[in-house]
Amino acid sequence: DLLEQIAQLEKLLTVETTKLCEIVDHFVKELEKGLSKEGGNIPMIPTWVMNMPEGNETGKYLALDMGGTNLRVVEVELLGNRNFDVIQSKYRMPPEMKTGSSEQLWDYIADCLKSFVEENHESVEGEDSLHLGFTFSYPCSQSAINKGILQRWTKGFDIDNVEGHDVQPMLEAALQRKNVSIKVTALINDTTGTMVASNYTDPKTQMGLIFGTGCNAAYFETIGNIPKLEGLVDLPPDTPMAINCEWGAFDNEHVVLPRTAYDVQIDNESPRPNQQSFEKMIAGLYLGEIQRLIMLDLHAQGFIFERQDVEKLKVPYSIDASLLSQIEEDPFENLSEVEEIFLRRFLITTTGPERKLLRRLAELIGTRAARLSACGVAAICKKKGITACHAGADGSVFNKYPNFQERGAQALKEIFGWTEANPKDYPVKLLPAEDGSGVGAALIAALTLKRLNEGL
Ligand code: BG6
Ligand code: GLC
Repeated sequence: DLLEQIAQLEKLLTVETTKLCEIVDHFVKELEKGLSKEGGNIPMIPTWVMNMPEGNETGKYLALDMGGTNLRVVEVELLGNRNFDVIQSKYRMPPEMKTGSSEQLWDYIADCLKSFVEENHESVEGEDSLHLGFTFSYPCSQSAINKGILQRWTKGFDIDNVEGHDVQPMLEAALQRKNVSIKVTALINDTTGTMVASNYTDPKTQMGLIFGTGCNAAYFETIGNIPKLEGLVDLPPDTPMAINCEWGAFDNEHVVLPRTAYDVQIDNESPRPNQQSFEKMIAGLYLGEIQRLIMLDLHAQGFIFERQDVEKLKVPYSIDASLLSQIEEDPFENLSEVEEIFLRRFLITTTGPERKLLRRLAELIGTRAARLSACGVAAICKKKGITACHAGADGSVFNKYPNFQERGAQALKEIFGWTEANPKDYPVKLLPAEDGSGVGAALIAALTLKRLNEGL
């Protein structure tokens, strides 16, 4: 019966404290391995962002933010004294672009930038080129702040002829084709941008975190702790260097994460199997898909949606994380919103007990994601010996998924054995970042120009 099914799902998807701790221990080793000469699953990319802002930075910069869902163009004016003004336009990334051609992608981005500059920037002619911080949130190997060779697409992207290439010249070439005078001054990851922007407004910030379509973190190391840079840089060992972890790739070897058959299926059917194992269990792109696969399996076994046509539910990725949150958040005792959703979207009539199961399932998936995500945060803290800090966090899952923040905080409490009763007093706090990628990109462009001017 359905109660028995719920109990089984609870068993399958619950990550107990002991497992969390086991994951954290392995995670710490993997962070270290990523920094070592031999390398490991987690890329641990040195970003050449080498200091936090001082707070008095000034100037106008452009930022282009290409995450997983939207494209944003932002003009940021840094006012000094940890203040800023922002004008921005959001452009929808057409979903077919994710698997289209490289030219299409760069032309589209260049068009968006061009129209933004024409609409919002007063004088283009006669002016030196505008400086752009390009937030390109995919794993890129960086040999300098404005260079980034795409290692591989993540978040469901699959565009030919970009992997293995530096993305900066591709964007600049497209801009030239459109006669736009913009220079890519810095290429950054959304996590690094979030960390720097959050540190600008809150100097206690030591980490930048994204829980959105994908999931990732950035923090600072010192050069002396990055063995893989040995012989490549001639800088004192205590020089700081921001690391874009790309922790979505944690446990690609499948040693410790409690993967289920559904996680394996998502991985196998994705454009990049055997990659982003951690991300595929926790990020927004995949949460609804996990629910969909489990529902289809329960249906195939005859437990739910008996004698109903589930054709519409068979469409991959037809449930996104926002739909999953709606299922969790249905305020009505009889779950009439869930009933409505299934009827309207999937032409499936649900019974009361089925809806209870569906909601419990959504809760379990969301809780698992939050608890596993906390393992990464705890691992960075343990690796760095941080016992108290702030982390700037952004992304649709962090900002919108019901209870994600509370569940993550609870997991951290269990991992560290904190005794504080009130989550507000927990020593490691995840705080929402305010426009991390826009302001962060502008700040990093400003810091880069300052270093260049100083001849560093
Ligand atoms: C946005 C940031 O707010 O969050 C982006 O500006 C980031 O840089 C994004 O990539 C992540 O969230 P999502 O949910 O859009 O993937
Ligand atoms: C994916 C990307 C990473 C990004 C994260 C969040 O993991 O590989 O670069 O930071 O998504 O957007």
